[in-house]
Amino acid sequence: MRKVHLVTFGCQMNKLDSELAAETLADAGHLVVDDESLADTVVFNTCSVRDHAEQRVLSRLAQLKPRRLADPDFRLGIMGCFAERDGEDLLRKLPHLDFALGTRQFLRLPEVLERLDLGDSVKPEKAGLFGPAGAESPGIHQSHPRARHQGIQGFVSVMRGCDNRCSYCIVPDVRGGEVSRPAGEIAAEVRALALAGAREVTLLGQNIDAYGKHDNTSLSALLRLIDETAGPETGLVRLRFVTSHPCDISRELVETVRDLGRVAAHFHMPAQSGSTRILAAMRRGYTREEYDDKLAMIRDVLPDASIASDFIVGFPGESEADYLATRELVETARFTNSYIFKYSPRPGTPSALTMEDDVPDIEKKRRNNDLLAVQNSVNANRGAGLVGRRFTVLAEGVSSRDARRWTGRTEENMICVFDAPPEGEAFQGRLVEVEVESATPLTLFCRRVDGNAREQSKD
Ligand code: SAH
Ligand code: SF4
Ligand code: F3S
Repeated sequence: MRKVHLVTFGCQMNKLDSELAAETLADAGHLVVDDESLADTVVFNTCSVRDHAEQRVLSRLAQLKPRRLADPDFRLGIMGCFAERDGEDLLRKLPHLDFALGTRQFLRLPEVLERLDLGDSVKPEKAGLFGPAGAESPGIHQSHPRARHQGIQGFVSVMRGCDNRCSYCIVPDVRGGEVSRPAGEIAAEVRALALAGAREVTLLGQNIDAYGKHDNTSLSALLRLIDETAGPETGLVRLRFVTSHPCDISRELVETVRDLGRVAAHFHMPAQSGSTRILAAMRRGYTREEYDDKLAMIRDVLPDASIASDFIVGFPGESEADYLATRELVETARFTNSYIFKYSPRPGTPSALTMEDDVPDIEKKRRNNDLLAVQNSVNANRGAGLVGRRFTVLAEGVSSRDARRWTGRTEENMICVFDAPPEGEAFQGRLVEVEVESATPLTLFCRRVDGNAREQSKD
């Protein structure tokens, strides 16, 4: 039995994979520990989306090198996207790294740990077995018995991989093509999570609106099936899904969100740029006008829906005029949030191969900070306009900044801080009515209006 500490980098998909890896390890009799100093095995679940993400993993591996070299019983490994992209090379270059498991192999963790304990080498000569290029873990696309869930939020992958080929993106390389899981399995997994205590479940997919496109089904049909299978009696009060691609999001889907009371009216629909010229170079498959039309369609069906976006600044060839088009989109689109990234060329991607990274870093930084300031002022304006409005918040727990306050999120995914409930911990996972008293760009400060928790969602 090993004491394994898992460290996760990257997106929610990676967080979910870490959760599944932890469950697999526990099933095999290992202990998953929160405290790294108590562990005899450390595994980094890695991200490759930007160079910075990879550098952080490399520096953490370097930090642990003395410990690994001093203690022959200590194991150091990586899984996830960077392991998939460069695992073989890393195993060769880093003598202190014991194993690398690709994005579709991490369920093999117990097997790898056992082999290492038996003195077996899992260095590159065995890469076919344990390296990133090997076969998929059995069960990776199948349902997982998620009976031991902790906390009120659960995540379920509905598809893996991505069939798009945005020119800057490493995800299709490291996660492979789109594979949708069968709807019945997903619905059963959501139900199991809810029965194990999850109150809010988020469905994950790189391009979730394309769910089921190879199998003649759709995300709308999936949401309806989940709504039936995991009825309110399971305790599930909210369902979310990410990430929406502007090309694939349909009116039918938005209408389904409107019709199903428990599905949050929140869309994460990354624009990436506000300039049609840059969108074409990014191979996003839509123009600025088409993106604006999708925004209008969502607001036509669900006027109060919140919409979040991602942006890349400093893409090759991005002129000041292109940037200003992005800026104007953020000024006018009323996003609840914008996640802003500086372009980072990824090895082997079309943009890295064919376009010069010609926007200087200092200019990328300027555009990044400027766009952040625009989104912050949008948030500040919205926050000020929300004072006095009431929201239903899913109570998550005690605020990390103030033990007398609690936090939770609204359906629109806005963070609320509100006065601690008299019921204490029993409040976790309940829906609470609050009224906004003041707001900062990212947080609404509220008071509870009725003091009573509601068990049911809005319908
Ligand atoms: N599947 C999602 C996004 C996955 S990656 C989608 O299609 O929208 C998350 C975000 O990282 C992207 O939306 C993009 O804004 C950013 N990103 C991806 N590749 C990047 C790169 N090479 N440099 C900078 N940011 C990048
Ligand atoms: Fe990457 Fe584009 Fe796929 Fe998103 S849709 S994961 S940005 S290739
Ligand atoms: Fe996620 Fe990073 Fe991989 S964003 S899909 S962990 S490259």
